[in-house]
Amino acid sequence: MVKLNINGQQHEVDAEPDTPLLYVLRDQLALNAAKYGCGLGQCGACTVIVDGEAVFSCTTPVLLLEGKKVTTLEGLGTVAEPGPMQRAFIEEQAAQCGYCIPGMMMRAQALLARNPRASEEEIRAQLQTNLCRCGTHTRILRAVRRAAGLMQTAEAAPATGSRSVVR
Ligand code: FES
Repeated sequence: MVKLNINGQQHEVDAEPDTPLLYVLRDQLALNAAKYGCGLGQCGACTVIVDGEAVFSCTTPVLLLEGKKVTTLEGLGTVAEPGPMQRAFIEEQAAQCGYCIPGMMMRAQALLARNPRASEEEIRAQLQTNLCRCGTHTRILRAVRRAAGLMQTAEAAPATGSRSVVR
């Protein structure tokens, strides 16, 4: 048994210690946003956030994750209440086939969570490891800039007592 904290929830999963996190997410926990692309840490489709850092879940054994906080795209919001990153990608219609998009969003989220005012160069550098074969890079970059704007607006808004959508 391996204990995992995913999107704020504790899970005990029956998995070998060297099982890649991606398999546990998809096959055991029905968290299907992270995608299997290459399985080799070369495409970024499987990207999730672990303790604030974007990681390839296809090459991360669950053994290394005990005591850490894992966030998947499902943890950023819901269909009814999308988070700023998800809203921005929808509003910019950044997806074409969509396969790379969850990984793109998670890698961008990791950057903006620590630096909502990331420069264009920083955003481009951060997303370099994630591949998009449809070529929607321009829309993806626009969406990340929009997400940064949404996060800054939320940051600047006075507290109302209602639940913040920024995580
Ligand atoms: Fe993990 Fe390609 S599936 S990097």
